[in-house]
Amino acid sequence: MNKETIGIFDSGIGGLTVANAISRLLPNEALIYFGDTAHLPYGDKSESLIKTFSLNIANFLIEKQNCKAIVIACNTASAVAYEHLRDKHKGNIPIINVIDPIIEAIVKDETIKKVGLIATQTTINSGVYQEKIKRRKPEVDISVLATPLLVPMIEEGFAHDNISHAVIENYLQNPEFKNIDALILGCTHYILIKDEINDYFKAKVKLFDSTDILAEKLKGILENENLLSTTKKQEDKFYASDITKDFQKSARRFYGNSLELKPITI
Ligand code: DGL
Repeated sequence: MNKETIGIFDSGIGGLTVANAISRLLPNEALIYFGDTAHLPYGDKSESLIKTFSLNIANFLIEKQNCKAIVIACNTASAVAYEHLRDKHKGNIPIINVIDPIIEAIVKDETIKKVGLIATQTTINSGVYQEKIKRRKPEVDISVLATPLLVPMIEEGFAHDNISHAVIENYLQNPEFKNIDALILGCTHYILIKDEINDYFKAKVKLFDSTDILAEKLKGILENENLLSTTKKQEDKFYASDITKDFQKSARRFYGNSLELKPITI
């Protein structure tokens, strides 16, 4: 069987924002998405558990679904499981995380002197963003804040109202974020509140997220490895390890109304 598809996974449905960006930039690629909704959220789980979940999912996508590339569309899994997966599959298949393309964009931007990061507790605790930025550009200041209320808030549909404004404001008015030139939205869900964050900063702070930047990075890798598809060979598939009406509803909000999540045990 030819390797035709791109495997994308996340702890849940937030990674659909990444899948969406990939399908817009690379419409000839067939996607297989897996949301690990049975184990959601990853953001407060231990590193070893997230590594185990990520390894199982990558095996499913590579061995059972025969994917030609894997995108870890979750900041938390990218922070703690990427190196593990990359080493395990070295030489076999490209594995792309959502963090490195953001780091590259930040490092390239000469105007950025102070950058903020909002993310889940596990991503912040991993220190991966902090370490990668410091290593590549030690003169850049980085201030970090775990923002655990944002994922459940967005999943519950609060994104453009008084509740979300109050929560966003409360987090972003943290004194650590005074005078930042850029803010990393270090969680796939936060794309849904990007406009609100932009409004809070009166459009004066550059916002970096893992949608278009990641899709461009993937395109470059597929081109380099001669893996780019010229025609779409099959329909996109969206799997989840647990499906409820709410997950289905949120998935459509994250991706589009035609999306149908299918249950699967891996
Ligand atoms: N998708 C996860 C991330 O980007 C957030 C949700 C979770 O905690 O599982 O970090």
